[in-house]
Amino acid sequence: MTDFGKEYMARDIDHVLIDEETILKRIQELADRLSNEYRGKDLVCICILKGAVVFYAELTKRMSVHMKMDFMSISSYGDAEKTSGIVRIMSDINTSITGKHVLVIEDIMDSGLTLNHLKTLLGERKPASLKIVCLLDKPSRRECDITPDYKCFEIPNEFAVGFGLDYAGKYRNLPYIGVLKPCVYQ
Ligand code: PRP
Repeated sequence: MTDFGKEYMARDIDHVLIDEETILKRIQELADRLSNEYRGKDLVCICILKGAVVFYAELTKRMSVHMKMDFMSISSYGDAEKTSGIVRIMSDINTSITGKHVLVIEDIMDSGLTLNHLKTLLGERKPASLKIVCLLDKPSRRECDITPDYKCFEIPNEFAVGFGLDYAGKYRNLPYIGVLKPCVYQ
């Protein structure tokens, strides 16, 4: 099978930060843990589009519990450089989460402002529990007091793309986490 597309994208990658095998192994471990913790509970898994889509699919298909799967599209007010932390729901879930156990599934926690505000918004719907699951955590960038309840990897403050993370809407379909060459975005 040819792999021209992936090779073409790989030219823009300075180095691989986390390879696919390592990511999938860690996701399996997390899926096993979550399955144990949520077995028998009324669970709703919310995918925050678009960055979480690859992680969400890989995680949920490895979880051996009943769940409802739903999707939310959000955007932050503010300019492209800096998130204001005020989240606008562009497309809401259509599942009621009142009294349910909720996992919010994200690709990355950076400043933490997006998830901090989203947690407040979803908390107003009175779920039985509300936890945040992130593929990546960049604690060095945090601007508020929040940490993911579950995470796969902590990463340094580098420009990571792949496995759902984008630059200018591209690279989300790379099967690993890579660091973009500065010449691509400078
Ligand atoms: C990313 C990510 C989080 C947010 C994290 O979304 O998916 O939602 O930024 O940043 P923060 O911790 O600094 O608030 P982005 O706005 O890039 O949208 P996308 O998921 O569609 O790529």
